[in-house]
Amino acid sequence: MESNSKFEAQVYIHRRKVLKEQFTDGLILLMGNNESSMNFRDNWYPFRQDSSFLYYVGIDTPELACVIDLDEDQEIVFGDDLSMDHIIWTGPLPSVADRAAQVGISQTDSLSALHKYLQTARQKNRKIRFLPPYRADREEQLHQLLGIPVSQLNANFSPELVNAVIAQRSYKSAEEVSQMEQAVNISNEMHRLAIQSARPGMKEFELVGQVRGKAISSGGDIAYPIILTINGQTLHNHYYGNTLSEGDMILMDAGSESPLHYAGDLTRTFPVSKKFSSLQKDMYNIVYTAYQKAVDALHPGALFRDIHLLASEELVKGLVGLGIMKGDPKEAVAAGAHTMFFQCGLGHMIGLDVHDMEDLGEQFVGYSKDLQKSTEFGLKSLRLGKALEPGFTITVEPGIYIIPELIDRWEADKQYTDFINYPKLQEIRNFGGIRVEDNFLITDEGSQKLGHYLPLNADEIEAMRS
Ligand code: GLY
Ligand code: MN
Ligand code: MN
Repeated sequence: MESNSKFEAQVYIHRRKVLKEQFTDGLILLMGNNESSMNFRDNWYPFRQDSSFLYYVGIDTPELACVIDLDEDQEIVFGDDLSMDHIIWTGPLPSVADRAAQVGISQTDSLSALHKYLQTARQKNRKIRFLPPYRADREEQLHQLLGIPVSQLNANFSPELVNAVIAQRSYKSAEEVSQMEQAVNISNEMHRLAIQSARPGMKEFELVGQVRGKAISSGGDIAYPIILTINGQTLHNHYYGNTLSEGDMILMDAGSESPLHYAGDLTRTFPVSKKFSSLQKDMYNIVYTAYQKAVDALHPGALFRDIHLLASEELVKGLVGLGIMKGDPKEAVAAGAHTMFFQCGLGHMIGLDVHDMEDLGEQFVGYSKDLQKSTEFGLKSLRLGKALEPGFTITVEPGIYIIPELIDRWEADKQYTDFINYPKLQEIRNFGGIRVEDNFLITDEGSQKLGHYLPLNADEIEAMRS
């Protein structure tokens, strides 16, 4: 059924069959990604195939498109075979027909034929369904193929197709879970390496190199840019130039892809010294407790938004215990005061994308007709709010982020003075940030952590540092 580096054709045939059953007529256009230039045309970023294309068509090479024509009952892969000029520079590649045959598609044609095919369909007023584009070259390509102005593409994609894709990709099959376990296990090794290698005096980038090297030497590469920083309070920190000093904490958020491009997404926070300071340990334990509460609450039917709020309440309880917050934790969370410390969401769907299917729209992926995504500070960054279901794979990633600029702004604006002890908070304004993150499969009974265990509590982390 499953091999490490390739699913059998039957997997893709079945996925397309299920997709086709959601529609009675028209065309489904699935666009593969193109090479993307770094600085001049032939100097490319590493190629990453579009995830929905990978899911249904499974061909991991650039410059392809697939049409599923429900009226004519045919599936066609469009792409150009390599010319000798290409082969000289990039080497041979199986023909488009051979690549398509491996995923159970027998019809192929050139990219110029795709143009003609869609032109004919448009002349006959046939419905052409496509997914929202997220790359500029794709927008231009869709504009050329469909005659829709670029500015109108986002009003003309097919919400029905988006919903059908999400309805399939949200539920991970056994072979997908196996890929995710592989991704998490490589990610686990990346974290072990960093936790064991970090030394005072090193630069962040020295560790980043080792961590990324681990992903590459495991046969894949990172699933998203590595966050490895002594400034963990900056949520998407991609600066690696700081020197590690005794007393600092390193927040590392890093994950690898599996051979078939499923993502792992793990975070650990550890001291540069052999042990956490007393305050670091107290804060770490608050985050750890919030993580445990959230993980215990993972069950089919539970709203992930409620689990996010539960974890937030746990963070507040701990911060009240340290005198940094005050008042009733439930009331503090209802008022939004916790967002001084936890500005982002508790987690998100994960799969072929680290933020799975986010290109299809966060409202579609993480919410429902009855549950709209909030626009409030804090909740607006919660990418998953809806009820959990067996087969979903998600992250759980609570944190505490002490952001000096936010403290100063909110203190000046007298925000949440009933709940935030500003003098105490000012004393620790340069504390930094802590996050822990693991990946879970929702099961009939509750949840299952993906991959091998990675040391998590403060004692385990310290033991790895000594
Ligand atoms: N690594 C990105 C995230 O945790 O959402
Ligand atoms: Mn994450
Ligand atoms: Mn992460």
